[in-house]
Amino acid sequence: MQILLAIMMAMYVLSTAPRAAVSAERVTEVLNTDSETVLPGNGAGGLVRPARPEGLRFENVVFAYPGAETPVLDSITFHAAPGTTTAVIGSTGSGKSTIVSLVPRLLEVSSGSISLDGRDIAGVPLGALREQLGVVPQESWLFRGTIAENLRISLPSATDSQLWHALETAQAADFVNELPQGLETMLSQGGAGLSGGQRQRLCIARAILRPASVYLFDDSFSALDTVTEAKLRAALEPELRGATIIIVAQRVNTVVSADQILLIDEGRLVARGTHDELLGSSETYREIVASQLETEEAA
Ligand SMILES: Nc1ncnc2c1ncn2[C@@H]1O[C@H](COP(=O)(O)OP(=O)(O)O)[C@@H](O)[C@H]1O
Ligand SMILES: [Mg+2]
Repeated sequence: MQILLAIMMAMYVLSTAPRAAVSAERVTEVLNTDSETVLPGNGAGGLVRPARPEGLRFENVVFAYPGAETPVLDSITFHAAPGTTTAVIGSTGSGKSTIVSLVPRLLEVSSGSISLDGRDIAGVPLGALREQLGVVPQESWLFRGTIAENLRISLPSATDSQLWHALETAQAADFVNELPQGLETMLSQGGAGLSGGQRQRLCIARAILRPASVYLFDDSFSALDTVTEAKLRAALEPELRGATIIIVAQRVNTVVSADQILLIDEGRLVARGTHDELLGSSETYREIVASQLETEEAA
């Protein structure tokens, strides 16, 4: 029995050893990852408030994921002025979320440059850069904790009335009010127990809580019905006046009123203009509009 036990133990060690080796490799990889604070461009000096805000400018931006052969974004150039709304539309996988991720420098451009108020963001310390941005990512991430804690991630000093105001703007006040514990309701990791639209509205409230000069909404209205979306957009307008707004969208409804629409196809900017201009100039845009009208009629 004793010999048998020893053999079994040896077998066990032998079978787990390769798994342990792989785990060790991954853990070392994480431990060796450079902290964001040492990324290039961090150091002395923050963003000096410009006398005349210039907004967000992309200049021949190329981005390729490390190791990929073809770039995901190819030579994107546009300017989003303060006080205007820029909509980004295009099929799934065309690179819209990548554009959004480049602004807070979650990803670094491969070539070209992005500037905020005339200053290349590559030279701005990450903290100072992100302080100026309100971002609603495509995935509505909520963390374990109360609703109030989740909202205060973007502005720790916010008072309860500021939280309610942001929730009202995001059309989330009604359902938070109906929860037995209101702002103090505990959320589980990822926000399980809330609907997709409720999660999206909480994420929007979190982003707009903080005064920022650029707001980025990555497909943030997709889980909302058109009525709620219209109300939300109308409430957002006076709140974000003066800021540069970038909205990634799938629905033509969301983009019609934008000051400019960027049509992205396979990482390229294929057309730019207002809804009416694009209807006249872009075959692809007309196809998108037509296809959505058809599905609406079918519904
Ligand atoms: N982490 C990644 N590594 C490699 N390729 C990626 C990664 N994330 C996204 N991609 C690729 O980048 C392209 C653009 O993705 P994305 O910007 O998310 O598109 P969209 O938001 O327009 O749907 C897609 O072809 C996708 O496969
Ligand atoms: Mg996306």
